[in-house]
Amino acid sequence: MSVAASELDAYVLTDEEKEAVRKAFLGIEYDPKGSLDYISKVRTAAYKNFPSGLISHLELQKHSDVSFSIFENLPVDNVFGSPLNDANSQDYKDGCLSENIVVAFGSVIAEPYSIYFEGKNIVNNLVPHPVARNDFTGIGSAVDLDFHTENAAQAYDECGDISPVGLLLSGVRGDPNNVGVGPKTLLSDARKALKLLDDKDIEILYSKSFFIKDPYRWRGKYFGDRSDNKDVFLRPVLKGPVDHPHVTVAFYPDMVQPVGPEADLAYTNFHEAIKHVSIGIDIEPGRLVYVNNRFTLHSREKFNATQDENGRPYRWVQRVFVTNNLWNFRSFTRYGDRVYDPSTHSPSAYQVEVMR
Ligand SMILES: [Fe+2]
Repeated sequence: MSVAASELDAYVLTDEEKEAVRKAFLGIEYDPKGSLDYISKVRTAAYKNFPSGLISHLELQKHSDVSFSIFENLPVDNVFGSPLNDANSQDYKDGCLSENIVVAFGSVIAEPYSIYFEGKNIVNNLVPHPVARNDFTGIGSAVDLDFHTENAAQAYDECGDISPVGLLLSGVRGDPNNVGVGPKTLLSDARKALKLLDDKDIEILYSKSFFIKDPYRWRGKYFGDRSDNKDVFLRPVLKGPVDHPHVTVAFYPDMVQPVGPEADLAYTNFHEAIKHVSIGIDIEPGRLVYVNNRFTLHSREKFNATQDENGRPYRWVQRVFVTNNLWNFRSFTRYGDRVYDPSTHSPSAYQVEVMR
């Protein structure tokens, strides 16, 4: 189902506000490693220059009551390409407004961070990569990336929840050959989906009946060479009150394995309900979407990624993860101040025992 942005939880900047934001963030130099100094600068600029209504709207996200919010009419850079792999985003546009603004939004809501193998910089560039067309990641394009909460398995890390509390997606460059036809980012509020299920299914989703595997990018890079570290524990996919659940699930292949026919049925029914209540949004330049990862699932339709005259894919979305607690990342190697590498996480004695 596709719904007009005006029908959703949205904040639209006036042209005057847009210009004030542009001026405020134009002169801040982007630090890809997210140093404390950089985060302080953008956070200060946000509180000084964002309209008070926008600050309130962002602060409201801390309650986690809102499934997702859309922000419209943001200033954009002049873009003339798209970065592949770890290319420098600054080589493809005339400034760093998009990075500064998405980090500023994240800095008011919570604490921005990045995982080194998801994106080496604090702002991740999601550009469809020709070689990764069939990947179940943000840079794939030829396969549907089915509904999931981000880094679901990481909610159970022994150092604390290291899944993001939310993610911000910001449009940098649109695909002129796909205007109005996608790809859509699909969002689904699990609270609405659960209203479609019967009590028995919900009870099973709360039970320890599911293996939740690491996302593909994490496999083989987490706890040294162990690639299936989550398979040894059965988990629930729902925790907490049913009107504000913490959902840890990913419906794309080889991610969550229900154990037993009842769990299998509840899982399938939940998947169908999630799809049924979902809505689609184009992440276009000038539009930023904040997704509450606690109970809102996201997915991305497959699409035909087209290229510019230099062979660069047009579509370019930037992403920032936010967390409530950087302390939970304490055992990972840190590049700069906010880019974490879990591959150098040292397993505890307990984990070593479990891995045997
Ligand atoms: Fe995702």
